[in-house]
Amino acid sequence: MIIDGKQIAQQEKEAIREQVAALAKQYGRKPCLDVIIVGENPASLSYVRSKIKATEYCGFEGELIQLPEAVSEEELLRVIRERNENEAVDGILVQLPLPKHINEQRVIEAIAPEKDVDGFHPTNVAKLWLNQQCIVPCTPLGIMALLEKSNTVLEGRHAVVVGRSNIVGKPVAKLLLDKQCTVTIAHSRTADLGEVCREADILVVAVGRPQMITGEMVKPGATVIDVGINRTADGKLVGDVDYESVAPVAGAITPVPGGVGPMTIAMLMYNTLQCYNQRMTN
Ligand code: GUN
Repeated sequence: MIIDGKQIAQQEKEAIREQVAALAKQYGRKPCLDVIIVGENPASLSYVRSKIKATEYCGFEGELIQLPEAVSEEELLRVIRERNENEAVDGILVQLPLPKHINEQRVIEAIAPEKDVDGFHPTNVAKLWLNQQCIVPCTPLGIMALLEKSNTVLEGRHAVVVGRSNIVGKPVAKLLLDKQCTVTIAHSRTADLGEVCREADILVVAVGRPQMITGEMVKPGATVIDVGINRTADGKLVGDVDYESVAPVAGAITPVPGGVGPMTIAMLMYNTLQCYNQRMTN
């Protein structure tokens, strides 16, 4: 089975759009997401455009703030603080990565936790691990939605997460644990990675290495979630999973493109709506 992230994301966005139409009437204003991008990294620009397109589809307000590559950290922090204080803004997203002269962690921590639609602020990270209500990072949320929509059984099963990033690996491992999975976090330095991966009933790959996971590393029938987005020399988009060799072995698999990517954006819309609801009811 191919898990159609594009279609599931579309359903999620339609549901959000309907809720937004009703809520905007009730509260007299629409949710507002401001997206900040620094520099002109083509991949980042492409992601940001998709995010803006989705906000428009969902009926949100919002602004795209494009800052030059050479912008100072101080100026970026000033732009963020201005949005923190602006009552009309519900969500603030700073597209990562940032240029080397800017301290990423300082930028993440400058965003008001209640407007942190990425769920990257230490307050939200801590709350996630303490099982408190919080904003959960978009990609992990999207992965969990794909597992649910594909009716993948999680309770008691072995999930292997390949990758240990703050954005994907670590939070998705926590969410799988909450769903009663036995979780292993592997990574690019794991010895006998193939052996570890072959244990997985659910294999989530977010390691950032093109086509690293091949068919012989996958247990027959496993559900495989490919978070990777890599561009090959000839311009083709490929995942961290070698689709051609893995698809015949897996029970279910997400394609690249059209798997996790669209879900991340749908969950960003979901998180923005959460921030708006929290702010309107507090
Ligand atoms: N860069 C890659 N993924 C993400 C994400 O989920 N959020 C932000 N802000 N930047 C990213």
